[in-house]
Amino acid sequence: MQKIGFIGWRGMVGSVLLERMSAEDDFAHIAEPIFFSTSNAGGKAPDIGPDLPPLADAYDIDALAGLDAIVSCQGGDYTKEVFPRLREAGWQGYWIDAASSLRMQEDAVIVLDPVNRDVIDRAIAVGQKNFIGGNCTVSLMLMALGGLFKAGLVEWVSAMTYQAASGAGAKNMRELITQMGAIRDGVAAELENPASAILDIDRKVVADMRSADFPTAQFGAPLAGSLLPWIDTQLENGQSREEWKAQVEANKILQTQSPIPVDGTCVRIGAMRCHSQAFTVKLQKDLPLVEIEQLLDSANDWVNVVPNEREATLQQLTPTAVTGKLDIPVGRLRKLSMGPEYLNAFTVGDQLLWGAAEPLRRILLILLG
Ligand code: HSE
Repeated sequence: MQKIGFIGWRGMVGSVLLERMSAEDDFAHIAEPIFFSTSNAGGKAPDIGPDLPPLADAYDIDALAGLDAIVSCQGGDYTKEVFPRLREAGWQGYWIDAASSLRMQEDAVIVLDPVNRDVIDRAIAVGQKNFIGGNCTVSLMLMALGGLFKAGLVEWVSAMTYQAASGAGAKNMRELITQMGAIRDGVAAELENPASAILDIDRKVVADMRSADFPTAQFGAPLAGSLLPWIDTQLENGQSREEWKAQVEANKILQTQSPIPVDGTCVRIGAMRCHSQAFTVKLQKDLPLVEIEQLLDSANDWVNVVPNEREATLQQLTPTAVTGKLDIPVGRLRKLSMGPEYLNAFTVGDQLLWGAAEPLRRILLILLG
């Protein structure tokens, strides 16, 4: 493959992708990287080392059709508009995408190679061309629990999520911080005074959070100092779309013969870019905890088991500890009082890395051979 097009590289996921590709020197494998723009064709390409031509027009089907592969972080609307036109024009290249639009299409593979390299290799062998990154929460769950799935030990999983602001977008991250600042600023004088009554401070904080002036344009409700137990749109069966994705995408990634139920409640919390998840796993059989830990720990190079101890948990199993890292810690491992086949687990992962950019840069490298 010679010509690789990058679209949506300026956004949050795209920027993390470029950072990671530069850090790993991926561009050394790409003969001709071409950067596109939906709004600034003719502008300057990013500085990735070699001199690059000006930005090409991301809606120019002829220009896109000359590429061997396209990596898009531009979002679902762009994919829906451009992808069908390109394919209708007879384009045979690889389409690599962070957006969800194509994920559940029969001719699309959801890529998470540390978990489903076999599925990816089979797809390449039969000539499949569409490789799509999974939902961040699903990818992070499978990176963490992959060892149990691979061993066929999972009867079902309930995943209760604690999802970061970044999953909703860059503007949402800014709004979260703005909300935090507004809360603090509203009681700055009282905080200075050690004699002020905490219940007075609390009343003032709540009044601020409920006021029409509180900044909620992005989330639609206060997140700082609170949480939002609904992510994405509402489906008719009572699930949120984020909750629906867990089972359908996990089973598609794993290509399970009969679907493994995965369900729970997805909740937005005031973390910046790490999604956390609390799992109840119903195991197919009672397995000693030490064997479970070994299976989990050895499943891929990034997962690591955190001992189920207070200090280790607070040091290693938090969004603060994991942000910006590829590590996938999994801890709080213990059998629940429901019985020896019920496993408790907790994981944290950076949703911009394994949840978005990393599977994309890795599938590109796999396709480059
Ligand atoms: N849907 C996820 C979220 C983002 O809102 O947190 C990435 O898939």
